[in-house]
Amino acid sequence: MMGGVNIISMEKNMKNTISTLAATALLASSAAVSAAEVEVLHWWTSGGEAASVNYLKEKLSGAGVGWTDFAVAGGGGENAMTVLKSRAISGNPPTAAQIKGPSIQEWGDLGFLADIDGVAQANDWDNLLPAVVSDVMKHNGKYVAAPVNVHRVNWMWSNPEVYAYAGATIPTTWDDFMVQAKKLQNAGFIALAHGGQPWQDATVFEAVVLGVGGADYYNKAFVDLDMDALDSATTLKVFETFGNLRQFVDANSPGRDWNVATSMVIEGKAGSQIMGDWAKGEFKVAGKSVGTDYVCTAAPGTSGAHTFNIDSFAFFAQSDAASTEAQNVMAAEILGTDFQTVFNLNKGSIPARLGVSRAEFDTCAHDSMDAFVSASASGSLVPSFAHGMAMSSAVGGAVTDSATNFFNSDQSAADGVAQLVASIKAAM
Ligand code: BGC
Repeated sequence: MMGGVNIISMEKNMKNTISTLAATALLASSAAVSAAEVEVLHWWTSGGEAASVNYLKEKLSGAGVGWTDFAVAGGGGENAMTVLKSRAISGNPPTAAQIKGPSIQEWGDLGFLADIDGVAQANDWDNLLPAVVSDVMKHNGKYVAAPVNVHRVNWMWSNPEVYAYAGATIPTTWDDFMVQAKKLQNAGFIALAHGGQPWQDATVFEAVVLGVGGADYYNKAFVDLDMDALDSATTLKVFETFGNLRQFVDANSPGRDWNVATSMVIEGKAGSQIMGDWAKGEFKVAGKSVGTDYVCTAAPGTSGAHTFNIDSFAFFAQSDAASTEAQNVMAAEILGTDFQTVFNLNKGSIPARLGVSRAEFDTCAHDSMDAFVSASASGSLVPSFAHGMAMSSAVGGAVTDSATNFFNSDQSAADGVAQLVASIKAAM
């Protein structure tokens, strides 16, 4: 595991190098791809994810645009971002890449991204997209990325048969989670299906932050990076709660992929997984039905709140007209109602654009849609920091490192807070 400071200095060095080479890359970016073809970097390699991305490929093929797949396995996208940086540095970025949140601004500031504002204006994106989505897609007021979905991250996926067998009930608070998880464990189950990878540790940590501290605290501490909110009794309680979860994860969790953890819930080996709704794609691929085979509830203490994670494709500037045209076709297809429906049915997320029928979506998706609207009105719609929606990549890396260092050691809650505060300060 790497220390936060190392990652931060790597990020800084990388940024400098990328800056210097941006101009070269712009000239060379289309060299490896023929006309009317897009090379697309993404990290969607699990069953549900692959079904989703295949639909995009099909849609583009129907529109006469070829697809060169640039998949880099690794949940959460850390590997994909590393590979993307090296491709960009070598002057050969893909046509489009799965880039999210503030990172879009970072790539835009470096001069890499193409302006797809013409497509956006022609298709009225400003009116099709909620402002919380469209704001992220623009750089200097122009669209440079297209959103495919809105994931809700603060979910818990549970196997109701496991709970029933253990005489346990699905918890709605973190205090109750500890009680019910003990019952699951006593009945011989793994209480919390978890993959010990930094981004998964951060995903659970984020759910604890929201569940213990609430949306105001979440925003102050993890969006505004207010040092008083970060260095507080609430953060101490967050680390205590997070630390209490260590006992409910099995010894084989280190390195486990998130979808393998989901399959533990599917197969009845584990009670619950805390994971964004891409997990639903795995239940779907396994032929499971919501309500009977599995249950989706808000992560403990977070009902009514919505931690959003918007997947989007950012477009890299091209030097020839055919590649630019292929990009424009891709951008336009992505915002189509049929694409947003089928893609999100497979992916477990909800459409990013307005005006898509709810009819085909299940109850989890309806909950997510309703929570998105009500949380937006009540101020509890929060960006996922574990999934790159809230912070610069440097600060996000520091938070992930602190969460993962804590979870995978016997560090005290007080030391966890101190390390978090110090590493955020160093990365800002
Ligand atoms: C992405 C999802 C993806 C998940 C697991 C998240 O960061 O937003 O689209 O399914 O990582 O790989």
